[in-house]
Order: sequence, then structure tokens, then C-alpha cells
Amino acid sequence: MAIRNIRKENDEILRKKSREVTEINGRILTLLDDMADTMYASDGVGLAAVQVGVLRNVVIIDVGDGLLELINPEIIESEGVQCELEGCLSLPGKQFYTIRPAYVKVKALNRDGKWCVYKGEGLKARAFCHELDHLKGTLFIDKTATQDEIEKYKKED
Ligand code: NI
Repeated sequence: MAIRNIRKENDEILRKKSREVTEINGRILTLLDDMADTMYASDGVGLAAVQVGVLRNVVIIDVGDGLLELINPEIIESEGVQCELEGCLSLPGKQFYTIRPAYVKVKALNRDGKWCVYKGEGLKARAFCHELDHLKGTLFIDKTATQDEIEKYKKED
């Protein structure tokens, strides 16, 4: 297990598309372990493999209810709208409001190669969307909400 270097905003790898995992081998399992170490060391709630320089469809998420390891994840259902502040370990210090679905359902392979389905609302839905965007080379700063959207969708405190 090891902490890997998190690529930052100006690193062009963050704009590249990640590729499908075709075999869950030792390299992928080590990647998953290292990604968890790296995410927890930085107090993050999610991390995509590209953020540690590996262009593979692998993300991890932990919004406080346990670690999820997702290989080749896909959003298979989404519903509603939410507008909340978002940040990213690759863009330290930046936080902007983004528009995301209020609820998503995701399917992904786990480390044993089994397809699993995960559901998330609120922060978890945002984390799924944010991390899956990384696999397409999309960053949350590409999706900042307009003032009108913030006024329309932001939950009253
Ligand atoms: Ni991010």
C-alpha cells in the first residue's frame, strides 16, 4: 500500500479519456489499494485512477459510509437535480456550485470481477457523477452552475 502523487489541474493527463479495464490483475488491485491510501490521506470522498496518473476506468468513493471500489463504472439511471458546492483533490482550494442529478444508480465491477449496482443520493450521487466525469477527462470546473441555476436549485439552509 502506498500513497501516490495526485495530479493537479494543469496536468494534461486529467483531460484524457480513461480506458476500460479488461483484466482485474495484481496491478489493478494494487492500484485500488493505493488509491484508497491516497484518498484517505487527503481527506477526499472520491478519487479516479487518472488522478494518480493511470488512464483506466477505476474510481473509489467513500462519503463516510464505507469504501466503494468501482471498475468500469456506468451510470444506468439518474433522477432529479441538485446544486451544491463541489471540490476536487486535483484542484485544491477551489469550490464551485455544480448541477448534478439528485439520485443516480451506477453499475460497476468490484475487485472480484462481479457486477454490482450502487445507488446514491445527495453527496454520494455527486461523488459518483464527479468521479465518473474524471474518466471522460471532464472536471467539475467545466460544469459550474450559473447564478440563475444556483438560485433555482440550491437548497435553502
Ligand atoms: Ni475530482
